[in-house]
Amino acid sequence: MMYEVRDLQLSLPDMVRKPLLGPAPKIDILKGISFDLPKKSVLGIVGGSGSGKSTLGRTMVRLLEPSAGHIKFDGQDVSHMGEEKLRPLRRRFQMIFQDPMSSLNPRQRIGRIIAAPLELHGWDNVAQRAIEALVMVGLPESFAKRYPHELSGGQRQRVGIARAIALQPEFILADEIVSGLDVSSQAQVLILLEDLVRELDLTLAFVSHDLSVVRRLCDQVIVMREGLIVENAPTATLFTSPQDDYTKELLAAIPLPDPDQPFN
Ligand SMILES: Nc1ncnc2c1ncn2[C@@H]1O[C@H](COP(=O)(O)OP(=O)(O)OP(=O)(O)O)[C@@H](O)[C@H]1O
Ligand SMILES: [Mg+2]
Repeated sequence: MMYEVRDLQLSLPDMVRKPLLGPAPKIDILKGISFDLPKKSVLGIVGGSGSGKSTLGRTMVRLLEPSAGHIKFDGQDVSHMGEEKLRPLRRRFQMIFQDPMSSLNPRQRIGRIIAAPLELHGWDNVAQRAIEALVMVGLPESFAKRYPHELSGGQRQRVGIARAIALQPEFILADEIVSGLDVSSQAQVLILLEDLVRELDLTLAFVSHDLSVVRRLCDQVIVMREGLIVENAPTATLFTSPQDDYTKELLAAIPLPDPDQPFN
């Protein structure tokens, strides 16, 4: 298994309801999440706004530490692992962010942006590796010299993908990575992601509001609501015979295009 998640819980201090004196009350954001993610498969994470999708993703790549429960990555319990022990694992699970403009340093050239994490992990030939990653995401080598603001939204998101795959990870978390793009750039980035996942034997967790894309891309889907999983099923099963009422509501709310059409 790439991931084994068991009864994962996460609570955070509620700063809105914090009294002037004394500690903030806790709010439970993840309330006991369990699922398995097999290697080389694609997991869709869907659910309404505020249901905990991003929090779950950030906990899986240990940007957050769970309050209780366990996350195993490739057999290793990473739930409470310290930074020192996490460091070699961090290369193996990568994240692509929603908004590439805010996740790419505006003052660094693209080549540098991709090379920096490679350097951090002690790799050699980082400039060359950065260029190879650019080419893999369909951008010309010359883009290594450009700055983020000189790129289109779709090109910037390709840079985000290049930065992640340059590290040769096994797992990628993609959280709403195309929601800021126009429809044709969305389709191009998704086709690229689908190709890379296949060619590089990646395991992917794909957080999305767009159920037609999830249907096309994912092998398995978990449906979240208020910090819990209400349904976990193979994609075909979920879309043809949803069991949970909330899943049925989500499915009813979207116009389903022809599943044979690539990302229209
Ligand atoms: N740092 C934080 N402090 C307090 N509450 C938080 C924090 N981060 C998230 N939350 C709350 O946790 C809940 C889940 O948030 P999360 O961002 O995981 O939802 P989501 O499913 O990704 O939503 P969206 O679809 O809008 O991206 C929300 O109610 C949110 O307000
Ligand atoms: Mg989110």
